[in-house]
Amino acid sequence: MKDSRIVKVCFVCLGNICRSPLAHGIFESLVTQAGLTESIIVESAGTGAWHVGECPDPRMSATAMKKGITLSSRAQQFTPGNFRQFDLVLAMDQVNMDSLKALCSTSVANEKLKLFRSFDPVKDGLNVPDPYYGGENGFDVVFHIVNRTCPQILEYVKERFSLPQ
Ligand code: 4NP
Repeated sequence: MKDSRIVKVCFVCLGNICRSPLAHGIFESLVTQAGLTESIIVESAGTGAWHVGECPDPRMSATAMKKGITLSSRAQQFTPGNFRQFDLVLAMDQVNMDSLKALCSTSVANEKLKLFRSFDPVKDGLNVPDPYYGGENGFDVVFHIVNRTCPQILEYVKERFSLPQ
């Protein structure tokens, strides 16, 4: 049986204005649909500080909105202390993963840090590609990857932290 503590999950990309806000919004929507808002807290952050305080990129918000997902996060930078706060930290690509590993011990990384696409049911890559400097299609690609992967992450969280199935 689960202890009564709340599970805290954080999605991390580079700028926290494209990929991780989308994962944040989709995962939060799944948590709500599953009736688990009392048990799971969702956050997102960036390894970089360039966009701190900003709303998600309007191109990412528009792509999400077409699918009924509203993105409401504000960009924040992930800090070493955040590893104490979160139970599970999901890196959107391998560069983000390396940046996060540099902020924590190996044991903390082993316990809390995972690559987002290690949960992707489609095994055709390890990175959620950065859409920031590309064309509009990049945002659709990100949406498809994140949308099919978030349900798998929710199943993992429910099982690992013994939340109601
Ligand atoms: P994100 O995309 O990491 O998915 O939020 C980016 C946003 C901004 C920048 C790079 C990637 N940038 O260089 O400012």
